[in-house]
Order: sequence, then C-alpha cells, then structure tokens
Amino acid sequence: MKSFGPYRITGELGRGAMGMVYRAVDPRLDRTVALKVLDVTLPKDQAAEYAARLRQEAKSAARLSHPNVITVFEFGENEGHPYLVLEYVGGGSLQQRLDSKGPLPIDKVIRLAKQLFMGLAYAHKHGVVHRDIKPANLLFDERGYLKIADFGVAQLPTSDLTRTGALVGSPRHMAPEQVQGRKLDGRADIFAAGVVLYEALTGIAPFDADHVAAIVYKILFESPKSIKELRPDAPPWLINVVERCLAKTPEQRFADADKARQALEQGPHSSVPVAKAAAVGQAIPLWGWLLGFILVAATSWALTAWLLSEADKAASPAAPVSSVVPPAMDSRGGTGSVSPPREVIDTATSYDSVPRYRQPPSPQRREPRDK
Ligand SMILES: Nc1ncnc2c1ncn2[C@@H]1O[C@H](COP(=O)(O)OP(=O)(O)O)[C@@H](O)[C@H]1O
Ligand SMILES: [Mg+2]
Repeated sequence: MKSFGPYRITGELGRGAMGMVYRAVDPRLDRTVALKVLDVTLPKDQAAEYAARLRQEAKSAARLSHPNVITVFEFGENEGHPYLVLEYVGGGSLQQRLDSKGPLPIDKVIRLAKQLFMGLAYAHKHGVVHRDIKPANLLFDERGYLKIADFGVAQLPTSDLTRTGALVGSPRHMAPEQVQGRKLDGRADIFAAGVVLYEALTGIAPFDADHVAAIVYKILFESPKSIKELRPDAPPWLINVVERCLAKTPEQRFADADKARQALEQGPHSSVPVAKAAAVGQAIPLWGWLLGFILVAATSWALTAWLLSEADKAASPAAPVSSVVPPAMDSRGGTGSVSPPREVIDTATSYDSVPRYRQPPSPQRREPRDK
C-alpha cells in the first residue's frame, strides 16, 4: 500500500492488535504523520470492537492538548478502513529503548517520570483515564520529550467501552482494582506509571509470570523485588516515590499525578516518608502479628503488676506521688492513655490523609546481594 486516502505511506511504525501504524506524509500540509489503520480482515465482531476503540482513542485524545500527550489530527474512514491520524514522533518507544539498552540512567528516569506525571495529571484533570500506560505506549520525540500515546482503552466519563477495555491487553501494568474489574480512577494510571518506572530502573517487570492468572495473583498479593537490591544507585527518595505508586490500594498511592510530580520536583527534600512494607501493600507476616501481640501483652502485664505494687506502696504513707508515676504515663496513671511514640504512627501530611504504619521488616527484604 503506497497511499491511503490523501496520505502517502512512507514506512511502518508498529503493529498492534488492532492493525498497523504507518509513517505517512500528508502532502497537503507537507507534514509527516502517524497513520493508525484498523485491520478489517479481523473477525467481524472484533473489527467492530476495535473500530469503537479507535473512535474512543480519537475522542479521548481530541480533548487533550498537552506537550506530553500525542495530538490527534483526524479520525475517518477510507475504503472501509477506519483510521486515525496522529502527530508523528520519531524517537521510538520506551519499550524499544529498554529492549535495546536496558535500564535508564537515574537522571533519565526522573525526567521521564516528571513528564509522565505531567501528562497524566493533565489527562486526569480533563476526565480521561488512560488505563493502558506501559512502555510500548510511551513515545519520545527527536529531542527525547515524552509523549503518551494509545488512548485506545482510555476511559471518558461517558464511555461505554469500560467493560471491554478492562480485559484488553496484558495485565502486567494493571492496578489491583483494574485486574479485578472494579471502578477505577486516575490512581490506576499512577500504579501503571509505578510499574513503568520500576521497569525503567531495574530492567525487569515487577509483576511477571508465564500465565495471566499468576501475574494477576502477584499484582494483588505480592510485593515486587526490592528496587534497592536491583538498582543500588537509585536514590531512596526516588524508590519511595515508585513504591508509593505501586501501593495495592488507591488510597495508599499519591492522591493524584500532580502530587507524584511534586514529590519528584522536591527530590531528596520531598516529604514522602521512607516507604515501608505498607506502601507496597505487603501484608504483615504472621510472625510479625504474633511478636506484636506478645510484646503488647507482656508490656500490659508488666505495667499492671508494677501499678498494683506501687498502689500497695502508696497505701503506706511513704512515697510521694511524683515518684509513683512513670515518665511514659500521664498524671492520671492510666495505662490506656499512653500515647504511641511518634515513630509508630506517622500521620499523613499534604498528599493524603492515610496514616502510615511502620511494620516489621519483611522476610523478603534481604541485604543486597553481591553482584
Ligand atoms: N504517533 C506516533 N508516532 C510514532 N510512532 C508511533 C505513533 N503512534 C504509534 N506509534 C508506534 O506504533 C506502535 C503501536 O501504536 P499504538 O498506538 O500503541 O497501537 P496499539 O493500539 O495497536 O497498541 C507504538 O508502540 C509505536 O512504536
Ligand atoms: Mg499500544
């Protein structure tokens, strides 16, 4: 195929499930574009679904005009082929970059992350949740600026493609609420962004397996391998940002993409606390609960015994009150009114209202391996 409607095809850019993406020239404007053409040889119902997705992509992206989002120029049909004309970017995808050169340098990860969160914050503000953020859908222009592409399963508030879209593609980048088919919002994209950044840092996918069911299980219940171990030169604050994105529940993640961007801007001064197990949704291990229970029980028992013995002594006239009250207790002497030490409960600051609990170290977090 050398021409398609008014467009002259000059090369292939990629093949997706729905059809082909070509590089093409619009001779009327003398401009290079990306032409996404639906494969109509697909079975009828699939072709109809993909045509709806292409229209969805056109509608979602047409609402958006942002330097980090691919611009849609046109949506149409030519000889029975629905097509989409997009701004062309020549720097390849993040997937290609990771495949050819492996993990990115730290400064590039930070740059990528800032642009990704800027584009997402903008899309979310305009009511568009992307729902398919992954390295193959993150493109670069010639100067290395990030452009979010492929809004084919994006969700508009009015979309009726939600159900179909939830099952499209591999679940590797999907948030727990997405693999469960639950209602989702922009925080599902933040999770997917966390998966992308984890891959950009470590070169491996955080939730990977041979079978879809095993991937879904990992997304729902397992913590990924420690970034610190896999990428020892990654600054702790950056690891915290990524781990916070990967929290299992939306409430544990950044409240919105702009908060994630702000944390990146602040860098080492960001107020994201050192992410403990809770931030990546790790369950407290059984031995942790048991140990905690034993400690609490032993402390209460010791305090009660001590109080009783002090009360006995107080009954005799000798001891003054001040020496009876231990420093950790208030003047009423009640054990139940002892406030927890500050390190135990760290009340959330600006980005959300979820208290974060420090947890015992997970058995999965080992000392860094010798490489
Ligand atoms: N605007 C574009 N400019 C350059 N290459 C593009 C563009 N859009 C898509 N591509 C290439 O085509 C591939 C598939 O495009 P995408 O929109 O993700 O289609 P699909 O819905 O089939 O996944 C991308 O990974 C990228 O390599
Ligand atoms: Mg794609």
